[in-house]
Amino acid sequence: MAIAFGIDIGGSGVKGAPVDLETGTFTGERLRIPTPEPSTPEAVAKVCATIIASFDLPPEIPVGLTFPAPIKHGVVPFIANLHKSWKGVNVPELMTAAIGRNVIAINDADAAGYAEATYGAAREKAGTVIVTTLGTGIGSAIIVDGKLVPNVELGHLEIDGHDAESRASDAAREREDLSWKQWAKRLTVYYSTVEMLFSPDLFVVGGGVSKYHQEFLPLIRVKTPMVPAALRNAAGIVGAARLAADGYK
Ligand code: BGC
Repeated sequence: MAIAFGIDIGGSGVKGAPVDLETGTFTGERLRIPTPEPSTPEAVAKVCATIIASFDLPPEIPVGLTFPAPIKHGVVPFIANLHKSWKGVNVPELMTAAIGRNVIAINDADAAGYAEATYGAAREKAGTVIVTTLGTGIGSAIIVDGKLVPNVELGHLEIDGHDAESRASDAAREREDLSWKQWAKRLTVYYSTVEMLFSPDLFVVGGGVSKYHQEFLPLIRVKTPMVPAALRNAAGIVGAARLAADGYK
């Protein structure tokens, strides 16, 4: 069985698990450690090292990690939802030194999108697929005929004078105590804008809240077909592991 390891760095937790590359499923139990406060590069790198060390992994296993910001050739150009000192950091360099293994780093939504395109809801789907993750922010990935266009930041579209994720993320729903119906109205505004700009063939909606998709997906009024993510919260880990195995740079 070919295995790779994925680590998903998020605003509230850092999660890791070994992944069976054939099926895109975990081969062992996922380990989650709360994101340290403050979430500085050094503190988060330490948590990643602890996660890796708690699994008995052969030295040559590919390791991929996701990060909640764009990653341009390894470097974070800006950061919305972790400590501001991440700006300008070369993530694979930092993590390789902390973990003692070669690692690749990729935007969290790109990893999720790649996993959905490889194993999940967008598998073998031709045309333009937009995968969004609704969480602390709004992550986005564009996949065209199975190929990922990295670092697309549709969570930061400015809509009605607001940064879109500040109004329509799952964190905004919780913060403002919105009902599913109220939230779906905001999501309709959001997805209609994305639809108008990109004319996608499919929307895949992921993030932890997608397990409640029956509550809000049917209330979102767009023309583009919209489906819940198949891998839910596992998508980041699975996509990062698979990209590491595929030699993503
Ligand atoms: C970041 C994205 C990230 C998304 C979800 C946004 O604030 O800019 O890079 O994918 O949050 O974590």
